[in-house]
Amino acid sequence: MINTLVIGAGTMGSVHADAYQKLENVNLVGIVDADFARASTLAEKAGTKAFHSYEEAVAGLDVIDAVSICLPTPLHKEFLIKAADDGKHVICEKPLARTLTDAREMISYCQEKRVKLFVGHVVRFFPEYVKAKKLVDADKIGSPAVVRTSRGGAFPNASNDWYADFQTSGGLVLDLIIHDFDYLRWCFGDVERVYAKSSKGRVTEKTEYALVTLRFKSGVIAHVEGTWAHQSFATKFEFAGKEGIIEYDSAKISPVVSSRKQSGGAGGVAVPESPLKESPYLTELKHFIYCIQTDEKPIVSAEDAYKAMEISMAALESIETGKPVVLNDKKVKEAIQ
Ligand SMILES: NC(=O)c1ccc[n+]([C@@H]2O[C@H](COP(=O)([O-])OP(=O)(O)OC[C@H]3O[C@@H](n4cnc5c(N)ncnc54)[C@H](O)[C@@H]3O)[C@@H](O)[C@H]2O)c1
Repeated sequence: MINTLVIGAGTMGSVHADAYQKLENVNLVGIVDADFARASTLAEKAGTKAFHSYEEAVAGLDVIDAVSICLPTPLHKEFLIKAADDGKHVICEKPLARTLTDAREMISYCQEKRVKLFVGHVVRFFPEYVKAKKLVDADKIGSPAVVRTSRGGAFPNASNDWYADFQTSGGLVLDLIIHDFDYLRWCFGDVERVYAKSSKGRVTEKTEYALVTLRFKSGVIAHVEGTWAHQSFATKFEFAGKEGIIEYDSAKISPVVSSRKQSGGAGGVAVPESPLKESPYLTELKHFIYCIQTDEKPIVSAEDAYKAMEISMAALESIETGKPVVLNDKKVKEAIQ
C-alpha cells in the first residue's frame, strides 16, 4: 500500500485525489491547501483529511510515502525539496518548474535524497496518442516527414488567476503545448531547432495563441499550435509519412484514422479507435505508483520533463528575439520572464 498526500486542491489536485481513490493499492491520507476551505471540500469528497500546510500534514499523519504536487508551477520546487528532505517520493504536475535552473536543481535534489521523481506528462498515457506512436514505430506510414499538432481551448481559470501572470505560468508555450513537445520527443527523438511566433504582448485580453516549428535531429518537421483563444478544449494531430498518414481530432466521434497509400492508386484503410475507457490521468498515476512499488523505469522520466521544458524555453526565446534557436544547453536561456 502506498500512502499519498495531495498538495494543492485545485483542478489538478482534484484529478489526483480522484485517481488515488480509485486505486486499490493507494491510501489517500490527506489533502493540503493554503486555502483550507478548498482542502476541506476536496478532502470531504475524497473521504480523507484536510490540512492547512505540508508541515501540519507531516505532523498529523503516521505515514506518507509519496506526495502529488499540484500547485502553481513556481511553487513546485519549494514543496519538492520539503518532500525529498523527508524521504517522500514526488509526483509533480507538469511543467516541472518555471525555469530550467529550478528544474535541474529539482532533479538533482531528488537523486541526492534518493527519492523518485515523476512528472505528469499525461499525453504519453492518452490511448490515441499511444496508438499513433505505435503505428509510427511499426512503420505503418513509412518514414515520418511532417507533423502537425494542435491543442487548446478557453483561457484557464485558477486560484488567484495565476495563469494570467506570464512570469508565474510561462503562458501557453510553457504550460500547455509542453504536452505536445514531450509527446513529439517521445515519438521522433531530440529537437535540433525551434522557431516560434505568438500573440504575446499583442493581445491584452486573456487570450493567447502560438505556433511553434520544430526541426528534429531525425529530419522530421513539426508545426505545434497552441491556443487559449477558443471556446471548448480540443486536441488534434496529423502525422504525414512517406507511405501514409495518421490523423486525430478529439472533436470527432471516431477520432483516430490511419490511412496507407495503396499500391498504384489513391484511397486508404481507415482504422477508427474506440472512445476512452479509463481516464489517462488514472492510467498515468497508476503507472507512477507501480514504478514506486517495483522500481520499474517510468514511461516518462524527469529528464524527459527537463527536455520538454528546454523546447518551451527555446520557443519563448525565439518569440522574444524573432530568430530560430538551436537547442543546445548552453544557448537556451534558462528563463524567459
Ligand atoms: N497535466 C495536466 O493536464 C495539467 C492540467 C492543468 C494544470 N496542470 C498543472 O498543474 C499545476 C496546478 O495547476 P491547477 O490548474 O490545478 O492550479 P489551481 O490554481 O487550480 O490549484 C492550485 C491550488 O494550490 C493552492 N495553493 C497555492 N499556493 C499554495 C501554497 N503555498 N500551499 C498550499 N496550497 C497552495 C491554491 O489554493 C489552489 O487550490 C500547474 O503546474 C499546472 O501547470 C497540469
